[in-house]
Amino acid sequence: MLLAFGLASLHGAGAAPPFVGGLARHEKASPKISGAVLINELGCVACHASSRAEFAAKAGPDLSTAGARVMGGHLQRFIEQPSAAKPGTTMPDVLGHLPAAERASTANALAHFLATLGGTSPTFTRPAGEAVERGRKLYHSVGCAACHSPETLLPDSVPLGPLAEKYSVASLTKFLEDPLAVRPSGRMPDLKLDHFEAVDIASYLLRDQSAPARAFAPDPQLAARGKALFTQHRCDACHTVGSSRVTPKLVALDKVRPERGCLSGQSGAWPQYPLSDRQRAAVRASLAAQSEPASVAENVELTLTRLNCIACHTRGELGGVPANRNAHFTGKDENLGDQGRIPPPLTGVGAKLKRDWFRDVVVNGASVRPYLNTRMPKFGAANTEPLADWFKQLDTLSKAEFTRVRQPEKPHEVGRELAGSKAFNCIACHTFREKSASPIRALDLMTMTERLEENWFHHYLANPTRFSPITIMPSFWPDGKSLLPDILGGDPGKQRDALWQYLARGPEAGEPRGLVLEPLFVAVTNEAIIIRRAFPGIGKRGIGVGYPTGIHLSFDAGQMRLGSMWSGGFIEASGIWRGQGAGQAHLLGKDTVSFPAGPAFAVLELPATAWPTNMAKQAEGLAFKGYSLDAQQRPIFRYEFGETLVEDAFLDLKRGDAKPHFVRSLKFPQRPPPPRLHFRVAVDKVIEARGDQEFAVGKGLLVRLSTPGVVREVDGAKELLLPVRGAFTVEYHLTAKP
Ligand code: HEC
Ligand code: HEC
Ligand code: HEC
Ligand code: HEC
Ligand code: HEC
Repeated sequence: MLLAFGLASLHGAGAAPPFVGGLARHEKASPKISGAVLINELGCVACHASSRAEFAAKAGPDLSTAGARVMGGHLQRFIEQPSAAKPGTTMPDVLGHLPAAERASTANALAHFLATLGGTSPTFTRPAGEAVERGRKLYHSVGCAACHSPETLLPDSVPLGPLAEKYSVASLTKFLEDPLAVRPSGRMPDLKLDHFEAVDIASYLLRDQSAPARAFAPDPQLAARGKALFTQHRCDACHTVGSSRVTPKLVALDKVRPERGCLSGQSGAWPQYPLSDRQRAAVRASLAAQSEPASVAENVELTLTRLNCIACHTRGELGGVPANRNAHFTGKDENLGDQGRIPPPLTGVGAKLKRDWFRDVVVNGASVRPYLNTRMPKFGAANTEPLADWFKQLDTLSKAEFTRVRQPEKPHEVGRELAGSKAFNCIACHTFREKSASPIRALDLMTMTERLEENWFHHYLANPTRFSPITIMPSFWPDGKSLLPDILGGDPGKQRDALWQYLARGPEAGEPRGLVLEPLFVAVTNEAIIIRRAFPGIGKRGIGVGYPTGIHLSFDAGQMRLGSMWSGGFIEASGIWRGQGAGQAHLLGKDTVSFPAGPAFAVLELPATAWPTNMAKQAEGLAFKGYSLDAQQRPIFRYEFGETLVEDAFLDLKRGDAKPHFVRSLKFPQRPPPPRLHFRVAVDKVIEARGDQEFAVGKGLLVRLSTPGVVREVDGAKELLLPVRGAFTVEYHLTAKP
């Protein structure tokens, strides 16, 4: 069992109580607070109505694609006895009151029903070794280990349960790419993993998985019975299966007798929660305190606990990184000390951040500190909507007094001068539009006026240590006196205002003096280099490969096609390694040839059938299966086109003084390609045939095919197709002068 957590015994009366991550981080929570968090987490209000907003039930996972996500055997085991299958789970034992045999057959029918939802059930594939290693690193750095256990088991971790019995690499990847789609209440937030990162982490989490003992085939009759049972047992109070949740008509929460039913600890026709004594007492205390509604401060405390923000952040006395997880909070820049690895405090953050930016951070995980390895997750609008207003109400600062700098004092120019190397030299530590003048790369000056309240900026610059005792951000106005008395008459307020006005110009603001741009060239030596990031014309699912002979390519792992090819230098990587990493790699070739978007393989019913452009439809049959490496670390891409597995290898060759070229070989190792399959080699205005196997494409490319190709006209351009009958090769020669 992987990372599963069992402090208590797994069976019967000793079942592990439901585990709530935020409460484990907030031990001093009053019973009223912890009771309210539990009521919400355990979904009481899914069945017992309540008018109290803070009790609103956490939704259970959306089950409309459960069959495609979860293996059938696990569905049955989990439904039959949730806390035995996944100790610490927050799902109650709904069937607990049924006699054992009936419980097993009910769970079985329910599993058969759910297994029919969402498409074919997950199929086992063995995770790749290198992916497991990359996944292990990511899991222990991006923030998973803030809530879940690291590999060395730690108590007080959100249980993951027996993942290997539940998911396949593909279905777990899909879940991790967008957890909010399945679990809309945001307890498992979206860590903004790209597809490759999700594959790596899924491979790591399933590293010990072996093929399931027997396949699970849903039986239509059992499924029909399961469908009826799903409503009958009120599963639809917490779960959706394409429809909305149904609140049963039961006694309202403010009317329940707290020693009875679900809180009695007895078995009966109600869901069973294996609550600890402390949890039961807290729920009861919270029910008793029902008359007083939660204050704004309590609402903030409840939300930070519910969503476990305090696993990463402090706010006043609350939360923070515990000593035993400290090692999993790391950064890329040692010069920045703890600020370069620990998420920023939330103390006073309502007075610091503009409302819209605050919202963007919690809803979308907007981020400005590329040097932190831990990520601010995305919690979704539904779970965080009121937070910005609550923080703004609670956190206030007095109004900073200053005189605004107006013309003719040239505020923008003075501000620019102040930020530069001959004055306060802000760029000695801060980047400016992702460029930096020093090895220290604190957050970008261009992000400040967009995010920060102007009032806070003044207070902060006046005395940074008031806001963060550990900061290396200096004070430029010690004791209220400017270090530069000759600028703006040495008036501190005016100098800060000039800086603000300058930075607020955004794209118009000229670079401060002393800023130098160091390009980040990625050199290829005697082994190939693989960079999985955004590449021009491809987007996020790009894979760039630099080859030792000096010819390079980018591959599109979304559409399984060649993106572009060039020779000379490989790439300049500021766009992907600096800043948010949201940019693209910059190709260094002067002879770059780009290939058309859209799938490279298609079945053409007739010779005149148009090449498919409907990517959504096409993409269904395309799946990237990763790559293996040859002795020189060159990747051999593997992908599926429908049922057909393709192995796609590029060999870089250099003869004498000639420019290097590629020999690409495409193989179908599992089954022969389907009839009428075509491979699109190139599209260009000019394609000149020299026989039926050699073609000059545009001004910069010559291709040689191992089997004859055909050129056809499309909308004023030409398309070079190769009818596929089996394995084939394509030689690519770049012919433009570099
Ligand atoms: C899936 C639906 C469901 C959920 C979720 C649920 N209950 Fe119940 N609850 C019932 C049913 C059914 C009964 C028994 C029938 C009745 O009394 O209406 C009951 C009875 C009770 C009673 C006794 C009522 C009385 O006065 O006799 C209490 C107390 C109670 N529930 C509290 C809770 C709490 C607290 C939670 C969350 C931890 C919770 N319930 C979650 C369905 C649910
Ligand atoms: C802020 C805390 C938090 C962080 C950070 C977090 N998780 Fe979770 N995760 C949870 C909670 C809580 C649940 C259970 C959600 C629920 O009750 O719906 C969960 C559920 C899951 C599940 C589903 C388990 C199942 O039974 O299907 C997986 C898998 C998972 N997390 C993996 C990860 C990975 C991988 C990362 C890092 C990329 C991560 N989590 C980061 C809190 C977190
Ligand atoms: C009180 C609310 C509640 C009720 C009632 C409930 N569930 Fe759940 N269910 C949950 C929660 C919460 C989870 C997530 C638990 C976790 O990850 O540990 C869950 C998880 C599941 C899962 C795993 C889904 C996944 O993708 O990870 C299945 C399957 C499931 N429930 C089926 C059922 C069935 C069938 C019933 C009725 C017999 C039912 N549930 C009743 C709250 C509920
Ligand atoms: C897995 C750790 C983690 C969790 C959980 C988490 N955060 Fe963050 N948070 C971060 C990191 C890392 C940053 C810095 C992001 C950046 O700017 O690059 C951040 C930044 C922020 C900021 C911006 C602060 C500033 O001064 O710029 C706010 C506000 C914030 N988080 C609020 C929250 C709230 C509210 C929650 C819970 C709903 C939460 N965070 C949960 C890691 C986390
Ligand atoms: C010696 C290094 C250094 C110098 C010089 C410096 N800063 Fe900073 N500054 C920092 C560090 C480190 C932080 C904290 C970054 C973090 O929270 O991750 C910071 C934080 C800030 C913040 C708060 C940003 C936020 O959102 O939390 C502002 C505003 C700021 N600096 C402005 C300036 C300005 C304007 C100048 C020049 C007048 C300047 N800094 C010069 C190191 C420096």
